[in-house]
Amino acid sequence: MSQFLEAMAFRHACKKFEPEKQIPNEQFESILEVARTSPSSFGMEPWRLIVVRDPKLRKALKSSCWNQNQITEASELVIFTTDNDIVRSDSPYVRKMFERRGMPSDAVDMYMGVYKNYLEPIECDEVLLENWTAKQCYIAMANMMTYAATLEIDSCPIEGFDKEEVEAVLDIEYGRSVAVICAFGYRVNPPSERKRLMLKEIVEYR
Ligand SMILES: Cc1cc2nc3c(=O)[nH]c(=O)nc-3n(C[C@H](O)[C@H](O)[C@H](O)COP(=O)(O)O)c2cc1C
Repeated sequence: MSQFLEAMAFRHACKKFEPEKQIPNEQFESILEVARTSPSSFGMEPWRLIVVRDPKLRKALKSSCWNQNQITEASELVIFTTDNDIVRSDSPYVRKMFERRGMPSDAVDMYMGVYKNYLEPIECDEVLLENWTAKQCYIAMANMMTYAATLEIDSCPIEGFDKEEVEAVLDIEYGRSVAVICAFGYRVNPPSERKRLMLKEIVEYR
């Protein structure tokens, strides 16, 4: 089996982490590096990651995260936040992100126009904009979880939280929002049998 498929087989949503077992820092940084190098729509990289290590802060977050034990017991806890204001089509950040590709300024203008056309129906609604930036985080998170599995590091994606409460606990400023959370660490128990639909139930060829 390829290393990728082995990692896919290894990964499961870990519910119970070994609270005392720490991920070596170098390995955790390589997991963060996978987030950094993940793709994003128009290359806007709207994600801003908060790694919560302070036990007091973890405890405060837990009650806003359906009291899930992963919040306090995982070795590392990554909160994917997004900076929604900087990706608005009139933001200097957007121009900078296109300019860094080394294009001539008329090509940058062209990209800015395409981007504006794409984003205008999204950015006019705060929730749509938050959802668009959040989608990018899920790509990074999925890559991180699969990569972590290649290192035999477990993970749990977490959507079970009260967004406003988590934003308040973390003092997230206006214009930013929390997209999703991911815990990383080491399993206590073997995973239960994997349940999945069959390919024929989810794929059609036309
Ligand atoms: C976006 C997302 C959010 C999730 N949120 C939670 C969560 O809050 N708590 C939890 O225990 N599992 C959570 N899960 C795990 C799923 O329940 C799990 O991935 C699914 O049941 C399939 O099981 P497996 O990942 O072990 O193969 C989440 C999964 C995804 C993809």
